[in-house]
Amino acid sequence: MTTLSTLQETAREILADGKGILAADESTGTITKRLEAVGVESTEENRRRFRDLLFTTKDVEQRLGGVILYDETVRQDALDGTGMVETLRRRGIVPGIKVDAGAKDLAGFPGEKVTEGLDGLRERFAEYAALGLRFAKWRSVISVSEALPTPTAIEVNAHAQARYAALAQEAGLVPIVEPESIMDGDHGIDRSAEVTEQVLAATVEHLRRQRVALEGVLVKTNMVVSGYAGADQAGPDEVADRTVEVLRRTIPAAVPGIVFLSGGQDDAQANANLDAIARRGPQPWTISFSYARALQGRPMAVWAGAEENVAAAQDAFATRLRLTGAANRGDWSS
Ligand code: 13P
Repeated sequence: MTTLSTLQETAREILADGKGILAADESTGTITKRLEAVGVESTEENRRRFRDLLFTTKDVEQRLGGVILYDETVRQDALDGTGMVETLRRRGIVPGIKVDAGAKDLAGFPGEKVTEGLDGLRERFAEYAALGLRFAKWRSVISVSEALPTPTAIEVNAHAQARYAALAQEAGLVPIVEPESIMDGDHGIDRSAEVTEQVLAATVEHLRRQRVALEGVLVKTNMVVSGYAGADQAGPDEVADRTVEVLRRTIPAAVPGIVFLSGGQDDAQANANLDAIARRGPQPWTISFSYARALQGRPMAVWAGAEENVAAAQDAFATRLRLTGAANRGDWSS
């Protein structure tokens, strides 16, 4: 029987001492696109080699309190023969698992998505808990334009987030609840703020209705930025003000931590914005990062699949972590 204090302890451990999370949980389809973009064939072995490179970089545990894995990786060994989960655990990094089955077209709502993966989730959580995984992630995808999202898309995704989060807590894993409002498109920052606020408010409402303990949840969200294709791009101070405003309006102080995805912002932009957000602290919750692309993009390009590039790729990853860690303390400079 999991107690709330176990969940709280896990959440605290992941975000202790300014540490953040590496999202290394790309589905096979997603990592295949990223590997092919740097000329690497997406075989199971190459995916294992790249993730091994990340997890065995010197001193990663100083910046990373948690790593989110994909199911395939959980069942792989690192190159030295130790299980991937055990490799992280020995370094003092909490291993987590993406459990959603991806965002699929929402029938009847063109351009909108709903995340699948609830069927059989209780049994999967039991297995993941036995494999040593201590937190989980479920991502929903909300399209943003002047017309979208519809209230229905917000509602069905928030409902699924809460069903997932309740099952995670039942199994003793901390749920990362990640409703991502997608910042593609030419909307301005006002629209980003409005939608992000609606989505986070609905998500918290469903967590309450479904008796999820807010003290044992981490929220992962987008920063409130201008749509990437918009003419006017808000700078870090405006992004930070709007992001903090939306979070303070929607996320109760009972929630121990909020982490940001990088969402396809370039590395420097993501960190300039994170730094500006950190400078507005302290906040009622711990704030940190949970990046995939902004941490992995450069090391993957440097590696490009070649054994002789591993050391340089690990250096590139260590640099990304150092800069992101500095941004997380409000101590970043480009
Ligand atoms: P990005 O940082 O690449 O947006 O990925 C974070 C993530 O985990 C999205 O689900």
